[in-house]
Amino acid sequence: MPERARLRVGVLASGRGSNFQSMVTAAAEGRIPAEVVLLLSDRPGAGALEFARARGIPAEVVEPREHPGREAHDKALIDLLEARRVGLVCLAGYMRILGSGFVEHFRGRLLNIHPSLLPAFPGLHAQRQALEHGVAVAGATVHFVDEGTDTGPIVVQAAVPVLPDDTEASLSDRILAAEHRIYPEAIRLFAEGRLRIEGRRVRILEEGRA
Ligand code: GRF
Repeated sequence: MPERARLRVGVLASGRGSNFQSMVTAAAEGRIPAEVVLLLSDRPGAGALEFARARGIPAEVVEPREHPGREAHDKALIDLLEARRVGLVCLAGYMRILGSGFVEHFRGRLLNIHPSLLPAFPGLHAQRQALEHGVAVAGATVHFVDEGTDTGPIVVQAAVPVLPDDTEASLSDRILAAEHRIYPEAIRLFAEGRLRIEGRRVRILEEGRA
């Protein structure tokens, strides 16, 4: 069987970029048949940019004020991603809402990670929401992106316990460790062509069936 070409992945990140790092590392170590070919950020100070540059990964800042209006900003992002011929776009702590044009353009090849067991606690401060609600189990979710906030079809989830003395920081750290496992895992499944979106559900095909 001819070897499948490595999936070209573009990543959008606003912050420290630990999820971005986990996918770059997984790809570099050959754990996923993918290559991170572009990092885009809306914040010039994002830690993710520093890591990308140190690794020689093309990285660009697209500041919203340079492209006033959501459509213009989205178009700038789409153009850069298309110029690098990405097959998958991963949101990794990207703090801006993307317009429906962007979502439509990359539908079915746009993933996000969220630090809760969705559909519980969408939106900001998911770990704090989980603590305040008093749940015993928290976790992380990788999902396809649709027009809603953290509402798209779920690909992979991981659960972690909430411990009696947890603070927002300690729970966030435990969830983050799970994030670093499941995001590369979801990308691997996508890269292997094993994800089928069927309505709200994502079917994972057996290895070798894709
Ligand atoms: C992660 O908790 C992710 O789930 C959320 O934003 C955070 C980003 O962290 N969407 P990092 O920048 O990847 O370290």
